[in-house]
Amino acid sequence: MKTEGGSEEAKRRAGERAARAVEDGTVVGLGTGSTTAYAIRAIGRAVDEGLEVRGVPTSFQSRQLALEVGIPVTELDAVEGIDLAIDGADQIANGDGAGRGTLVKGGGGAHAREKLVGATADRFVVVADPSKFADQLEHPVPLEVLPDAHTVVADDVRELSGEPTLRDAAAKDGPVVTDNGNLVLDCDFGPISDPEELAADLALIPGVVEHGLFVGLVDAVYVGTDDDVEVRE
Ligand code: 5RP
Repeated sequence: MKTEGGSEEAKRRAGERAARAVEDGTVVGLGTGSTTAYAIRAIGRAVDEGLEVRGVPTSFQSRQLALEVGIPVTELDAVEGIDLAIDGADQIANGDGAGRGTLVKGGGGAHAREKLVGATADRFVVVADPSKFADQLEHPVPLEVLPDAHTVVADDVRELSGEPTLRDAAAKDGPVVTDNGNLVLDCDFGPISDPEELAADLALIPGVVEHGLFVGLVDAVYVGTDDDVEVRE
């Protein structure tokens, strides 16, 4: 069952707690979204107070925020590794069935870089509020696709019993374009009984740059509430 809730206070607590895990002299992966933004701002305040870190942003949005709050930013191919990555999630499986701890990400269309940075990091921490948990994943899975591949990928998704929707930009008369110049198909598979199998099937579709299922990547989830933070390892 999906848990309702999720306030700005809960997001703030989760993000700020994760920021406290950033150690001096390290490289930190900077995720995307409103919960991670609290972590980025808190890291910026720590930098003001003398913390030395370099940030590897996962999106234009997180890069802009990092620059605004004074975090020195760098690129993945300019560092030897990433010590800690902090990122949000659209849905987190917490049931007892297959795929416990698996995430759906990509609400901001940044999941290709988010997965790369999270998978590279020695430790990948997800920040969330309780509304993000579900016994079984059922959130539509975003696929970043090469622009002229969106119709053939959509056909392949239907063959997997998914319902694809090309993501539209609300403010523009056209599709969302990712930081990598690609399009996003949001694919509704209903309840996902075997996320690992679906992830493998999606990865095999030609034209898919990356899908938003994160299987076996997360080390801990920091769950903020209105008065506390629970760390689930
Ligand atoms: C962006 C993401 C975000 O982390 C996800 O959408 C959660 O965002 P928020 O913290 O605003 O709920 O995957 O691609």
